[in-house]
Amino acid sequence: MRAEIRPFAERDRARLRALFGRAGQGTPTASLWGHEESQAAVFLTPYMDLEPESLFLALLDGEPVGFLAGCLDSARFPSEGRRMGRAIGAHRLFLRRRPLAFLLRAARDGLGAVIRREPVPGRFVDPRWPAHLHINVAPQAHGTGVAAALMNHWLDRLVESGTPGCHLQTLVENTRAVRFFTQMGFVAYGPTPAVPGIRHDGHRLHQLTMVWTAPAGRPPRQRPAPRVEPAPATAGPQGGARHPARRVADPGESAEPAATPAGNEVGSQDPTAGQVGLPPPGVTSPVS
Ligand SMILES: CC(C)(COP(=O)(O)OP(=O)(O)OC[C@H]1O[C@@H](n2cnc3c(N)ncnc32)[C@H](O)[C@@H]1OP(=O)(O)O)[C@@H](O)C(=O)NCCC(=O)NCCS
Repeated sequence: MRAEIRPFAERDRARLRALFGRAGQGTPTASLWGHEESQAAVFLTPYMDLEPESLFLALLDGEPVGFLAGCLDSARFPSEGRRMGRAIGAHRLFLRRRPLAFLLRAARDGLGAVIRREPVPGRFVDPRWPAHLHINVAPQAHGTGVAAALMNHWLDRLVESGTPGCHLQTLVENTRAVRFFTQMGFVAYGPTPAVPGIRHDGHRLHQLTMVWTAPAGRPPRQRPAPRVEPAPATAGPQGGARHPARRVADPGESAEPAATPAGNEVGSQDPTAGQVGLPPPGVTSPVS
């Protein structure tokens, strides 16, 4: 099998969209509101439209089997809450049975958390880890090393662009993903609040924030922004972090991941943060 990792190109759009629908099936992250088109509008399309040079594709024998959607500066990217709000309107999710049930359950969970004074997930804003990512590999390519190869391409991009660090938000219960991220140098950071709305096998799931700090001592290279269609690169061997984390994050430091009642996003620079009618932000990506 020939593996290849390369940046997204416009001609990949339809095939990547199809992959989005099938990758992640059966994992806890698949437990969202069950409307694929709007989920893609939140977790995939903005990355194709706004930052294609941070979107990497994994192909096995020419077929896309995985992708990593990254963003170098999360403060300049529309927040998840804002993207979700747009998707609710554009896809009329309040008129669809399963999404409506999800949204009502999310509102009920959020309200319950407020009453019980429990934290709820929020947008993570911290200048030490400004970048973020979502990764999704189809089941047939699990354990092949393509996930690690995707991640290494992304970590290279972070180092080359001089980005100090990266965060991601996954689920505590997604044990395979957590092991993978740990192997790639990410460390857990901050609280693990229950995510409003989501259920897997009837159980509540919990958000886990993980962070990766760029290795010290390597000055950022001054180079032009990568082209959208560079020459293909071949995936490396199975597993292995090329960029071990510089240090373990100290959860005692300031700038905890935001967690507020009613799903408001503390620290968010998004003007729509905390808008009434939006589901609690923290609805965790199926593709982190
Ligand atoms: C997360 C993901 C990218 C990892 O890619 P992968 O190819 O499955 O990862 P790998 O097989 O290289 O590594 C996974 C690690 O977990 C281990 N593992 C395998 N199955 C596991 C399981 N059921 N539970 C816990 N750990 C498991 C692997 O053995 C490996 O650890 P090891 O090398 O110490 O043995 C991929 O599984 C995926 O896309 N999942 C669906 C979407 C998703 O969860 N995205 C990310 C989080 S939101």
